[in-house]
Amino acid sequence: MKDLQFKRHRRLRTSANMRALVRETQLHVDDLIYPIFVVEGKNIKTEVPSMPGVDQVSLDNLKMEMDEVVSLGIKSVLLFGIPVEKDEIGTQAFHDHGIVQEATRFIKQHYPEVIIVADTCLCEYTDHGHCGVIEGGKILNDPSLDLLAKTAVSQAQAGADIIAPSNMMDGFVAAIRKGLDEAGFEDVPIMSYAVKYASAFYGPFRDAAGSAPQFGDRKTYQMDPANRLEALREAHSDVDEGADFLIVKPTLSYLDIVRDVRNEFNLPVVGYNVSGEYSMVKGAALNGWIDEKTIVLEMLTSMKRAGCDLIITYFAKDAARWLAE
Ligand code: PBG
Repeated sequence: MKDLQFKRHRRLRTSANMRALVRETQLHVDDLIYPIFVVEGKNIKTEVPSMPGVDQVSLDNLKMEMDEVVSLGIKSVLLFGIPVEKDEIGTQAFHDHGIVQEATRFIKQHYPEVIIVADTCLCEYTDHGHCGVIEGGKILNDPSLDLLAKTAVSQAQAGADIIAPSNMMDGFVAAIRKGLDEAGFEDVPIMSYAVKYASAFYGPFRDAAGSAPQFGDRKTYQMDPANRLEALREAHSDVDEGADFLIVKPTLSYLDIVRDVRNEFNLPVVGYNVSGEYSMVKGAALNGWIDEKTIVLEMLTSMKRAGCDLIITYFAKDAARWLAE
């Protein structure tokens, strides 16, 4: 064996400290954004059946949720609203006393340091469940932009630190940037869902948010999972229009896209580790089929390795706990 020529890669794996020394990617609690479903009504804290461990909470229970989030060192939350009243144009999305606006004010008052990211979309607020205005069964692009800009401005007025438009209409970043600037919110950044696929991985979210489309699907506005170049076209438009962060969504099946986006742009890249990705892991963990902690940390670390600077994840509280151990 003496004269065999080969490299000894195992030299750098000999102990836990040696491995820590050469580790290339570190997951940190500061990378995590925790999504919260705020529901209109009182005394509600209901677990989403398809998302064990994730609750819909009413305003009066938001303090409990936020105390936990803050005590775990999580610095940023993403708010989704679930209104009682839905209508054709999603009026509650941009109502001054809408649920996200109220939740934002509450959090800003009690936890001024926490970064509030507001999801800016109409699907949770429209009776048809689509993300834009409908006419004759068609989802109209340009009329939807005005409503989105209005929604973003009302969220910023309530105190949102970051606007995160997720509806995939063309020009939404430009329209929202203009709306924010005209209302005096030129310092509020836009975290654009720049690359958002028409994915079955959103299934559990639609249970949680009651936002499943009542007819058809989202394939005329969300992207075809088969496409890669299209992701770069979408992201380029959003960057040109003034996006400050770029979201890739979902993440787990789209790590190649995360890497493409990371290599192409110099903005912070955000992975949205979506509901279906969460539920798959939770379901398997609850059955005792996988080791949840190791798998979740491996998954989130892979997302960072692929190029995510930040990760929106329902595992944020679990991960924060495990990272602190
Ligand atoms: C709203 C929105 C969706 C998600 C985030 N914002 C659902 C959708 O587009 O149907 C999905 C998030 C998740 O699955 O965790 N447009």
